[in-house]
Amino acid sequence: MKFFLDTANLDEIRQAKDYGLIDGVTTNPSLFARESEDWRTLAEKICRETPGPVSLEVIGQSAGEMIAEANELVKIGPNVVVKIPMTLEGLKAVNELTAQAIDTNVTLVFHPLQALLAAKAGATFVSPFVGRLDALAQDGMEVVGQIVAIFKNYDFRTQVLVASVRHPMHVLEAALLGAEVATIPFAVVKELSRHPLTDKGLEIFMKDWEKVKK
Ligand code: E4P
Repeated sequence: MKFFLDTANLDEIRQAKDYGLIDGVTTNPSLFARESEDWRTLAEKICRETPGPVSLEVIGQSAGEMIAEANELVKIGPNVVVKIPMTLEGLKAVNELTAQAIDTNVTLVFHPLQALLAAKAGATFVSPFVGRLDALAQDGMEVVGQIVAIFKNYDFRTQVLVASVRHPMHVLEAALLGAEVATIPFAVVKELSRHPLTDKGLEIFMKDWEKVKK
């Protein structure tokens, strides 16, 4: 299972790299809005720092605008994946970008049928937003399970990238369902390592070590 970091923060990317827990990065306009550096310089740095795909999102709404933007975004780094919104115009853009051998990540996916359309258009990744679905009392992970099943039924090569992750259970369920990727906020990545019994056990071992004859 690949772990992408859901961030535009360089410090988080560097820390996750030190832990060996980063296979890629996803960004979006809201994540860039949290950073002080201008987005293009930052995007270049993120691409250099990340040992894998970096999703950068288009802003245009028409297929023509998205395709033109995508062709600019891929100049930022060799590992850029162009993030395209799940709209009919977006599908048109994905279809053309696939023909141009440009990798895409179809974002803002909330229903398995949207994922099916994205896969048919040739998307490299499809991003179901589980946290935002859960917030509306819909089961985000059920949607992921259905997408995984559909892609398996038809041998689609599109990878399921679980997005809008809020807590460790989302990561566990994504792994159990066989999603290829989860994009995870850095705070949640750190939470994955923690267990109170690990802390307690370590404390006991350290105390007992003091009693060992040396
Ligand atoms: C990643 O590609 C998505 O843009 C991100 O996971 C959305 O997460 P949010 O619901 O926390 O904004």
